[in-house]
Order: sequence, then C-alpha cells, then structure tokens
Amino acid sequence: LAIAALGALPLPALAQTGLPPDAELRAAALEWFEPIPDAPQAPPGNVLAPERVALGAMLFFDPRMSRSGVFSCQSCHNVGLGGVDGLTTSIGHGWQQGPRNAPTMLNAIFNVAQFWDGRAPDLAAQAKGPVQAGVEMNNTPENLLGTLKSMPGYVEAFEAAFPDEAAPVSFDNFARAIEAFEATLITPDSAFDRYLKGDDAAMSDQQKRGLAAFMDTGCTACHAGRNVGGQDYHPFGVAERPGGSVLPESDRGRFAVTQTADDDYVFRAAPLRNVALTAPYFHSGAVWDLREAVSIMSSSQLGTELAEPQIDEIVAFLGTLTGRQPRIVHPILPVRDAATPQPQP
Ligand code: HEM
Ligand code: HEM
Repeated sequence: LAIAALGALPLPALAQTGLPPDAELRAAALEWFEPIPDAPQAPPGNVLAPERVALGAMLFFDPRMSRSGVFSCQSCHNVGLGGVDGLTTSIGHGWQQGPRNAPTMLNAIFNVAQFWDGRAPDLAAQAKGPVQAGVEMNNTPENLLGTLKSMPGYVEAFEAAFPDEAAPVSFDNFARAIEAFEATLITPDSAFDRYLKGDDAAMSDQQKRGLAAFMDTGCTACHAGRNVGGQDYHPFGVAERPGGSVLPESDRGRFAVTQTADDDYVFRAAPLRNVALTAPYFHSGAVWDLREAVSIMSSSQLGTELAEPQIDEIVAFLGTLTGRQPRIVHPILPVRDAATPQPQP
C-alpha cells in the first residue's frame, strides 16, 4: 500500500486500496481537467468542410511542399508515431539538425498557442513556419505556390476547399487547409477521459494513485485543462535548474519572443496528452525515459524528490492519457506537371 501517495487526502475517505472513493477522486480531477471532445471543432475563422480537411491532409503528407522534395509535415509529425519523429531534435533540409524536439500536432488545437515558446498564436500561423524554416522545409511561399498552381489536381482541390474565393490557391489558404486537417487530429476516449466521464473501471488502482499524486504534489499547477498542459508559460527550473543537456543555455525559450527578462528560460508547460507515445522529452529531447522526465519535473519545478513508487504511479497515470489515435488514410497526391518546379538541393 503506497501510503506516501496519499498526500493531503483526508484519511477517513480511504478505502482498502489506499484511495479515496472514485466519486471523490473524480470530483477532484474534474476541478482540473476536461475530456477531449469526441468530435473535432472548427477553429475560429475556419470550417471543417470535408473538401478543406482533405486538402489539408494532402498538403500535410506532400513532400513536394519542401524545396528538396524530401520533407513533409509527416516527416517530423508522424501520424503513426503519436505525431512526433522520435528524434532528440528534428532532422530537416540538407540533413541539418534543428535546435528543438518536435512536439506532437495531435490535440495541438487545444493549446493556448503553438511551439515550445508559444510564438505562433494558432495552427494556421504555425503552418507557415516550417515551410520556410531553413532547417525544416527550406521553401519560399513563391516556390510553394508555383508548385501548387502547376498541378491541376491541386488547383481543383483548392477550388473545392475554398469555393467562394476568386483566387483560392494562396499561402493563407495553404495554412488554413492544414489547420482544418490538424483540427481533426484529436485523440478522444483515453482511459483517463472514460474515467472522468464516470467509468470507475477505466483506470487501475495504481493509475488512480498516480492521478491523486499528480494533483496533490502540484503538477496540476502547470499541467491542467483539456490537454493536461499547453495552457500557460513557466520557467523551466523554477525550483532548480536542470543540467545543460536538458536545458541548453543557448535556448532561452520565451525570452526570444518577448525580450523580457522575466521570460528567460520560460517555456509553455508541455501538454501531456499521449505523452507515453512521444519520447524523447523536453524541448531539448534530451530525456528518453518518462520516469526520468517525471523525476526531473519534481526536482526542477516542485523542489521535491518523489519516492520511487510514487514516480511509477504518476507514470502509470500518464499512460492513461493515450487516446484513440486518428486513423488517417494516406491521401493520393496530385500528379506533377511539366511546369512543376523540380526538387532542389
Ligand atoms: C512544431 C505542425 C513541418 C519540426 C510544430 C507544431 C505544429 C507543427 C502544430 C506546434 C505543436 C505544439 O506547439 O504543441 C507542422 C506542420 C508542418 C510541419 C503543419 C508542415 C507544414 C515540420 C517539419 C519538421 C518539424 C518538416 C522537421 C524538419 C517541428 C519542430 C517543432 C514543431 C522541431 C517545435 C519548434 C519550436 O518549438 O520552436 N509543428 N510541422 N515540423 N515542428 Fe512542425
Ligand atoms: C514538461 C510532467 C510539474 C512545467 C513536462 C514533461 C513532463 C512533465 C512528462 C515533458 C513532456 C514532453 O516533453 O512532452 C510533470 C509532472 C509534474 C510536473 C509529472 C509534477 C511532478 C510541473 C510544474 C510546472 C511544470 C509544477 C510549472 C511550474 C513544465 C514545463 C515543461 C514541462 C514548462 C516544458 C519544459 C521544456 O521546456 O521542455 N512536465 N510536470 N511542470 N513541465 Fe511539467
């Protein structure tokens, strides 16, 4: 019986398992968390018309959106791998290694803003970044539009996706279509969500003890809401700075966005949905083991050393955040035309 995991829970409430009754634990959890909705919702200023979502999927999977013809969004956000590339930091154009770990796009629609430092306000703004980033897809909007306009299949797909527009093939609409597709990439029906909705049997006792510990030790101060994180910004190392491999000195996080001293080494609290699928961890991708990531969080963010069984319980709880993964059929992509720009090194 992991007495250490009980934290501040009042003793009379405890059943034989060392846990409060489910109704009590669930009520406490519902103060902090919300289930992932079963159906996707359109982002502001966008619609989830099937033609638009289908176009977004084509663009997401098409390596010809990169200058080299090698990289697509899927290269670094693999829909079969929980939405990540499983690399410490991503490899992009010309085998260059970027400075940060690729976060998942699954449920990204529910984050307050995009990127580890929140520098893009929404998914449409975000989608314009990687295409142009030298270390990612290294393309230009002009070359991208030239590529799209050269293929009748794409022109038709843009017309169908943006039926009321005079010039549907635009960089803005490229981003809006991708945003619409990404808005559908949500993972409802995790064990945790089923528990929140009233199914006592959806989580094991160990996982429930982990949930209790996650709330009692204070993880919820930063990881709460629908995405169990992703809602606000905090210094990485509030209590104690982790070592330089986990928190490299060169990446000062939100400081680069706001240029204010208060934002030095401040990052968006990572969303923890599907976290069991998305190793390695942290913006540096330096940590491969979820147990170690939890242990670093407790010392760096809470200034405490969690007992080993409690770390196991929290890791078990984090496993309940794995939801139903989207089943995506790889789209058939428009065939190139003689005028389609050729891949460039
Ligand atoms: C961040 C989507 C291409 C690597 C993100 C995020 C989204 C996203 C939604 C933010 C997630 C979050 O903050 O939780 C896309 C789309 C792409 C694309 C739609 C295609 C247009 C790529 C490629 C690579 C890559 C090709 C690798 C070469 C990364 C990295 C980050 C990121 C490293 C984090 C960067 C930072 O925080 O500064 N991407 N991505 N992405 N993506 Fe992509
Ligand atoms: C990242 C868990 C407490 C802020 C993470 C990650 C995990 C985690 C597993 C890595 C996720 C990933 O890379 O995908 C926990 C647990 C906690 C806890 C189990 C309680 C023991 C906190 C608190 C804060 C916080 C209290 C705020 C004061 C952050 C931030 C990141 C993060 C800012 C991103 C760090 C980065 O830049 O890489 N957390 N966390 N966490 N957490 Fe926590």
